[in-house]
Amino acid sequence: MSEAREELRAPADGFAHQAVEDAVARERARIARELHDGIATDLAGAISLFKVYMEGRKGQPDQTLKNVFEIMERLLKHVREALTDLRPPPISPDGLLGDLRQQADELARLYGIRVELSSNGTEDLLSAHQREVVAQVVREALTNVRRHSGSSICRVKMAFAARPFLIEVSDEGCGITGGKSGGYGLVGMRERAAGIGGRLEVVSTEDRGTTVFLFGPA
Ligand SMILES: Nc1ncnc2c1ncn2[C@@H]1O[C@H](COP(=O)(O)OP(=O)(O)OP(=O)(O)O)[C@@H](O)[C@H]1O
Ligand SMILES: [Mg+2]
Repeated sequence: MSEAREELRAPADGFAHQAVEDAVARERARIARELHDGIATDLAGAISLFKVYMEGRKGQPDQTLKNVFEIMERLLKHVREALTDLRPPPISPDGLLGDLRQQADELARLYGIRVELSSNGTEDLLSAHQREVVAQVVREALTNVRRHSGSSICRVKMAFAARPFLIEVSDEGCGITGGKSGGYGLVGMRERAAGIGGRLEVVSTEDRGTTVFLFGPA
């Protein structure tokens, strides 16, 4: 993907940006296809064979095999997550705000995290591609709040009318501590922001919380 990007690196005018974005999207789709048709399909096949075997052993399978089975299940879960990330679901007809309301309901219902949404202007001020990037970034930021912050409140502010537009996702959790995580969420958010000519900033204070800022193109 970085090769695709490198190849198309050109002055940051709208056309060049669009060409880079299209090339990156095609490459992501190709990787998603390969992951899906190769690893995911074979893993799912192996897991279902294992299930048949374990049922045959009436819940008394060999412990080593059981461990292998668990590793494979975990692997499949990770591959599926990677696929979701590579091919994010398009925004539904309810729009960005509609989708976010749904995610907010889910976070409250399943995890007890209250998500407050506020916005100015309308999402129609953004291009379809910009809206997709906003949806992806907010989704990943909310996932991080749920997985890492320990916060029971999260605020999503969307200033569509601002120039550049500004999206903020903040929590009141533990803050980002520690060094390298090996995760790809923040890296992906940064790349997506850069892909629309915008930028991502993260401000975090230990025990006070974290805010992710997504600025639109200047
Ligand atoms: N809202 C947050 N509150 C506390 N810590 C956070 C928050 N967001 C991110 N972090 C920390 O920053 C690290 C990097 O986040 P990132 O999204 O890049 O990776 P990840 O969530 O660990 O893995 P991935 O997103 O690839 O599944 C996390 O592992 C976590 O330690
Ligand atoms: Mg993450």
